[in-house]
Amino acid sequence: MQLTIDSPADFHVHLRQGPMCALVTPLVRKGGFRLAYVMPNLQPPITTTARALEYKAELQRLEPRVEFLMTLYLSPDLTPEEVRKAKSAGIVGVKSYPRGVTTNSDGGIESYEAYYPVFAVMEEVGMVLNLHGEVPSDSSANISVLNAEPAFLPWLHRIHAQFPKLRIVLEHATTRAAVEAVRKCGNTVACTITAHHLALTVDDWAGQSLHFCKPVAKMPDDRAALQEVIKEGHPRFFLGSDSAPHPSSSKTQSTPDKGCAAGLYTSATLLPLVAHLLESFDALDKLEGFVCTFGRRFYQFPSERMRVGAIGGGVTLQKLEKTEGTGDVWRGDGDAPAGYLPR
Ligand code: NCD
Ligand code: DOR
Ligand code: ZN
Ligand code: ZN
Repeated sequence: MQLTIDSPADFHVHLRQGPMCALVTPLVRKGGFRLAYVMPNLQPPITTTARALEYKAELQRLEPRVEFLMTLYLSPDLTPEEVRKAKSAGIVGVKSYPRGVTTNSDGGIESYEAYYPVFAVMEEVGMVLNLHGEVPSDSSANISVLNAEPAFLPWLHRIHAQFPKLRIVLEHATTRAAVEAVRKCGNTVACTITAHHLALTVDDWAGQSLHFCKPVAKMPDDRAALQEVIKEGHPRFFLGSDSAPHPSSSKTQSTPDKGCAAGLYTSATLLPLVAHLLESFDALDKLEGFVCTFGRRFYQFPSERMRVGAIGGGVTLQKLEKTEGTGDVWRGDGDAPAGYLPR
């Protein structure tokens, strides 16, 4: 079987800096993707327009055939004036990280209300707010990684109620509660879903640090909710891989203060992986919507085909015959190495 879909877009990816950046950035295209929405949690975080543009130029030098959309890290440096400047420089969104919940989030925020003046300008100029939807663990409030996302959801509703025209994306949803919360919001609120959260549950990362990411994968019923909303073809739920590479030593060797690094790297084989996962719950017919149309429409970055109705420019996947021990595999139609990289 062969399948051609329109231009895939990954609406949440970590491309890092230095040698790791040089290694993973070209693999966005190899993994089948034509657009990457790039997270700002570098060291130090990207908080200014000038740095975001420098970073974008570096990414484009590394892989000119991918369109990179840039974000800023929400912090006190992000003034209303900087938001206007960012918008006119083509920066698309602002990512908020609650303090201390994940990689490079020590500079994250504690109260969203303090940023309402910034959100007001973002709403006015049309920038997107990307929410890492977890509250910090707090034993006095019975909050841990298992309920940090549901405990965050009242913030989503509050911010949406206050700024109904602000486009908000709840990133990397992992719970049925998050899916239901986004469903209840208006058309300005969307949600990204990763590939790995369609596959993993608590049992897969408990004791297996290579499968550890934030937010952590939750219960089987939560995973089922993510699968169901994709299978339904809901237009406000789309792919953001949260592909987040770390050196293998920091994935396997714990440090006393932070433990092992959170993050799964999926970018290099992302499109075949997503095809494989959607097929596993009988949603292969939603692949194009989930990886291309819905996200591009929400973000107002249509593909060539969406703009002018032209045919072509898509990405072709081939389903291989069952091979001993590995089951069915999706791959590109060219001579890509290593089994199943799309060309
Ligand atoms: C590209 C490659 O092999 O690097 N393939 C190609 O030009 N046919 C990858 C790509 O275009 O995505
Ligand atoms: O698992 C994660 N890793 N979740 C995040 O939110 C950040 C990411 C990273 O940057 O490593
Ligand atoms: Zn996040
Ligand atoms: Zn992320």
